Amino acid sequence: MSSDPANGGVTPEVDWSWTERDPGWVPPEIDQSKPSVARIYDYILGGKDNFAVDREAAEKAFVMFPDVRDVAVANRGFLVRAVRLMAEAGIRQYLDLGTGIPTSPNVHEVARQTHPDARVVYVDNDPMVMAHNRALRATSPGVATVHQDLRDPAGVLADPVVRDLIDFDEPVGLLLIGVMHFVPVDIGAAIVARYRKALVPGSYLVLSTQCVDGTVAGGIEHAESTLAPMLGPVVARSAAQIEELFEGFDLLEPGLVDVSRWRADGTPGTLAFLGGVGLKT
Ligand SMILES: C[S@@+](CC[C@H](N)C(=O)[O-])C[C@H]1O[C@@H](n2cnc3c(N)ncnc32)[C@H](O)[C@@H]1O
Repeated sequence: MSSDPANGGVTPEVDWSWTERDPGWVPPEIDQSKPSVARIYDYILGGKDNFAVDREAAEKAFVMFPDVRDVAVANRGFLVRAVRLMAEAGIRQYLDLGTGIPTSPNVHEVARQTHPDARVVYVDNDPMVMAHNRALRATSPGVATVHQDLRDPAGVLADPVVRDLIDFDEPVGLLLIGVMHFVPVDIGAAIVARYRKALVPGSYLVLSTQCVDGTVAGGIEHAESTLAPMLGPVVARSAAQIEELFEGFDLLEPGLVDVSRWRADGTPGTLAFLGGVGLKT
């Protein structure tokens, strides 16, 4: 795997893709008959850790959003820039909720360019993500992955691995990138509020999610009718609903904007994907 300019020029330290090394083997806990959000996203990003059922689901997204791969790449670029900003501001510990199948550069790779001792806990509820991250845990002390559902903040925040690596008396970088569109609007605000409350001043909230405002007409309805039956809720918030998730935090410049435009000069795609970085003061 080589360094990619789209990745901010960061060279990944580990190639996590077991399918390249061991193409016939699939962890037994993986259900290959149902698509998964993590594997669809992996396919959209050009990864190899997905099955036919995921690729079929992704193709439904390509019908409505032919540039969805560009949107996903822009979202990863947003992640890199946001983590770099936090690291340069002194953040040494990160909680990445809905982390996905490892995609380089990941949070710890970017943060450790600035702080080689940065600690990162990755959280996801997909067994495939866990299987990949087991290798990562073995090779990177200070990096861990926990199998938790982010909709249960009490469970996540009390997880012994989270408690072991994250000191909540110190500022934390909390990431909710590309995941809130799987959490319904009516419960999402309270869930994010619970995480915000756990953070001390000086902490950051980095969040990106799809947005109704700016998305091609009919796009969200298409996603809901084709993907939701397979994946569960596919939620698009208004820009105002996304901004509410930062309540009590100061949004850093340029505020809540398309991820392609957050401290970059990209072009928004057919699927609007807003991102912002908030600071707890
Ligand atoms: C589209 S991927 C985003 C990955 C990464 N954060 C990024 O933006 O590049 C969404 C990830 O969130 C995970 N996810 C969805 N709902 C979740 C939940 N309730 N709890 C934990 N993880 C969840 C999925 O399994 C998937 O790996």
